[in-house]
Amino acid sequence: MNIVSYRLPTTTPNPSKHNDCGWVAIDDGVEVGWITMTFKPDNSIRFEDAFVHPDHRGKGIYRKLWDTRWEYVTANFKGRKIHAYCKPPSVNLYKEKEFTFVENVVLVEKIA
Ligand SMILES: CC(C)(COP(=O)(O)OP(=O)(O)OC[C@H]1O[C@@H](n2cnc3c(N)ncnc32)[C@H](O)[C@@H]1OP(=O)(O)O)[C@@H](O)C(=O)NCCC(=O)NCCS
Repeated sequence: MNIVSYRLPTTTPNPSKHNDCGWVAIDDGVEVGWITMTFKPDNSIRFEDAFVHPDHRGKGIYRKLWDTRWEYVTANFKGRKIHAYCKPPSVNLYKEKEFTFVENVVLVEKIA
């Protein structure tokens, strides 16, 4: 499996044009998962969504994507504050990585 990055601000010609970037997991030429992050106006970094195709879950792909993102951030943005809104399937990994609990948030919705 290969991890391929996209739109990283350290590798794109004009990073000021966008604030989101990420990594895609490719297995045998097929995209099997992805992970993203964004740069916030207050100079912090937010770790955003992750997704692994249901047929490929439980094999450590999320962990590999997560570690790739973490290595990139610590290599290029040491000292920046990082935050993330976690869902139940992702909160365990954040706890394992020693992120600090801040607050619970509430999901709301409405049909337009
Ligand atoms: C959550 C998701 C990305 C995990 O992908 P995965 O490749 O199967 O995860 P991994 O095999 O790399 O597991 C890494 C760690 O994530 C956590 N984890 C994975 N699936 C989990 C689940 N269903 N519930 C709770 N924790 C889970 C565990 O801590 C696991 O560590 P362990 O294997 O040592 O127990 C995948 O189930 C998914 O895409 N779910 C739907 C979208 C989603 O919920 N995204 C996450 C929040 S944005």
